[in-house]
Amino acid sequence: MKGVILAGGLGSRLRPLTKVTNKHLLPIYDKPMIYYPIETLVRAGIKDIMIVTGGNSAGDFLRLLGNGREFGLKDIYYTYQEGEGGIADALKLCEHFAEGRRIVVVLGDNIVQDDIAPYVRAFEEQNSGARILLKKVPDPERFGVPELDGDRIVRIEEKPAAPKSTYAVTGIYMYDRRVFDFCRHLKPSERGELEITDVNNQYIKEGDLYYDVLDGWWTDAGQFESLFLANQLVARARGAEDYAGAASTKN
Ligand code: G1P
Repeated sequence: MKGVILAGGLGSRLRPLTKVTNKHLLPIYDKPMIYYPIETLVRAGIKDIMIVTGGNSAGDFLRLLGNGREFGLKDIYYTYQEGEGGIADALKLCEHFAEGRRIVVVLGDNIVQDDIAPYVRAFEEQNSGARILLKKVPDPERFGVPELDGDRIVRIEEKPAAPKSTYAVTGIYMYDRRVFDFCRHLKPSERGELEITDVNNQYIKEGDLYYDVLDGWWTDAGQFESLFLANQLVARARGAEDYAGAASTKN
């Protein structure tokens, strides 16, 4: 199994934080954001990793990560996404790297508490298809949202005004080799991007999309609120003191 981390885009929702750097290099508590998806893959036993980057600061990834020795890796593969074509557009750049094998894709701004190894093992036991991870959230309209019929996903809607469930589709996706065929046939959405949700809907049409629900906390970090939340969740997980709380009680 190979791993792909999508860390391109222009991070426009985080301006001006992303005016001179890439979103995935911003800090999440004590590490740059990109460390977390790398650690997620490495913990699941995946050591063949491609990072798709983009924007102005792509060279900084190499300076920061090098060959990934800090993570116990022998090397890291890099590729460059022009513009903001969307997640599925970035994924297209990995076809050569995948060499027809199965891949685990992690969005570079997704931070997860759980070790995803059990889900990756479950995917390995599937004959074919895709596997996604869901998480219950208070604000599903910000995400891809599954419509469930019993325990089957019948459709996923991208940022629906009236969500059909309270689950978010997290940015951790597992795919067989067909994913690249599906990416090739996508049309840009209203926001002008090739949507990963359309890829997942294609797997649903083929009756070959499976899922698990995450137990531990999960967040993305692509907006000010979620970036702040990600920092708080990681700080708490590391047992950091609540300095803000302590300061406000002192005053
Ligand atoms: C993307 C996906 C969305 C998914 C989310 C998870 O949203 O399009 O389906 O729920 O990542 O982080 P975006 O960050 O591009 O708005």
